[in-house]
Amino acid sequence: MAKAFQTTTLNLLISLTFFFSFLILTTANDEYYNSVVQRKRQGFKREKLTHFHFYFHDTVSGKKPTNVKVAEAPTTNTSSTFFGMVAVLDDPLTVGPEPTSKQVGRAQGIVAATSQSDVGLLMTLNYIFTEGKYNGSSLSILGHNSILWALREMPVVGGTGLFRFARGYALAKTYMFNATSFDAIVEYDVYVLHY
Ligand SMILES: *[C@@H]1O[C@H](CO)[C@@H](O)[C@H](O)[C@H]1NC(C)=O
Ligand SMILES: *[C@@H]1O[C@H](CO)[C@@H](O)[C@H](O)[C@H]1NC(C)=O
Ligand SMILES: *[C@@H]1O[C@H](CO)[C@@H](O)[C@H](O)[C@H]1NC(C)=O
Repeated sequence: MAKAFQTTTLNLLISLTFFFSFLILTTANDEYYNSVVQRKRQGFKREKLTHFHFYFHDTVSGKKPTNVKVAEAPTTNTSSTFFGMVAVLDDPLTVGPEPTSKQVGRAQGIVAATSQSDVGLLMTLNYIFTEGKYNGSSLSILGHNSILWALREMPVVGGTGLFRFARGYALAKTYMFNATSFDAIVEYDVYVLHY
């Protein structure tokens, strides 16, 4: 008698467990919002630091500019710092300083002259790589760039592809600046922590 009772209770417990796990699974499938996942299982095992070195070719003059002004304030043309100017760029990134050197990516984005005391730009750029293992991966840069300073630093705020969860910094040095045409070649050293 007692044995039979125990068996019944056990069966009931098993049934209830099944029923509730079914309920939980169903709920999870129907109304999925978030869950904690294992970093390693998602492929994020060991973070590494990678150094990139390339040249950024910014061409304002000529028939095929890679940097075009798209807007300015009525007072921009009387400002010594171009305050209020907004430009869109799609600049090649190459391994060497020569424009004919091997291209490894493009810098695409929007820059704005946001300083009234020096030629200081707000840089909102994506560096989209097109060569080697980083082909298709990109880094996002958001920072301040006082272009007349010898050395500028901008934060790397994230990335895609092999740069998921990336963070780091970009150091920029002007390699060539033509004061007549405003064309420039900028040397970049970028240090990125990524998986
Ligand atoms: C500056 O631009 C405004 C229009 O945006 C124009 O009316 C003005 O004449 C320009 N000034 C100079 C010095 O070019
Ligand atoms: C980069 O990836 C694109 C798209 O997958 C491909 O078409 C292109 O050939 C690749 N370039 C190099 C240099 O591997
Ligand atoms: C600077 O740009 C001007 C105008 O495009 C050009 O005539 C000149 O040759 C350039 N100077 C250098 C050193 O490239």
